Amino acid sequence: MRIRKAVIPAAGLGIRFLPATKALPKEMIPIVDKPTIQYIIEEAVDSGIEDILIITGRDKKAIEDHFDKSRCLEDHLRSKGKQDLLEIVEKTSSLAEIHYIRQKEPRGLGHAVYCARRFVGNEPFAVLLGDDIVSSEVPCLRQMTDLYEEMQASVIGIKEVPPGDVGKYGILDAEPVRDNIYIIRDLVEKPAPEDAPSRLAIMGRYIIEPEIFEILAHTTPGAGGEIQLTDALKVLAAQKPMYGLIFEGDRYDVGDKLGYLKAMVEFALQRPDLAEEFRQYLHDLMTGTR
Ligand code: G1P
Repeated sequence: MRIRKAVIPAAGLGIRFLPATKALPKEMIPIVDKPTIQYIIEEAVDSGIEDILIITGRDKKAIEDHFDKSRCLEDHLRSKGKQDLLEIVEKTSSLAEIHYIRQKEPRGLGHAVYCARRFVGNEPFAVLLGDDIVSSEVPCLRQMTDLYEEMQASVIGIKEVPPGDVGKYGILDAEPVRDNIYIIRDLVEKPAPEDAPSRLAIMGRYIIEPEIFEILAHTTPGAGGEIQLTDALKVLAAQKPMYGLIFEGDRYDVGDKLGYLKAMVEFALQRPDLAEEFRQYLHDLMTGTR
């Protein structure tokens, strides 16, 4: 079965980015000139996803506006002959079929995904977390859907992290199957370093079989008092095969200030319209010749 649907949880309050996120959804913070959530949606679309459900919350209206058609802005750009900007704006509102639902209370990632049960129905689906941006040759989610099509089993996107970082992630207990692919025995959300079964960390990309919803319906709050997706995946992994894939590409944690700055610098250096001048500026700054 092909993966056609994706869920993007975007109801979080973004407290790591206050005061910017007081009135602005954290998903709308730009990397160079594009909101982080647009990178996620483009990755999904480039991976063959047709329908996307964004789980929003109160004060997230800017996300819907961003992906909506803005006739007034388009007319203005057309009348000024700004064809290149017009194309950018038109593309933003025609990326994919985007649906929205609100998570009414902040009860955790597992609960956010549970809100997608009617949208997803009885088919495998993707989950992409907005704090994880991946820059890769083959879109990260495409690498995962390819593996799903081969294995017909849930796939979790992972990377190896330093021992001191395991407490920030969902961590796998897994056995290698072949290069970069692991079969998952167990999962634990944000373990203490001494309890971590490995350094294989979940990186905000999932392809999950629909049985997860039945499990989530009975999942009780775990780490941080929240309903954890990792806890539900643990139950699913005990019932059916589930794989971890170390995907190719650079992953940025844009929910973290340092990760965000790294993404901003590196994405700017990849932009033909900015790279040369920006590289020179960074060079001069670092060598004290500015
Ligand atoms: C979530 C997941 C965690 C995962 C992480 C990074 O945690 O619960 O398993 O490793 O995203 O993608 P959060 O960073 O939202 O606390």
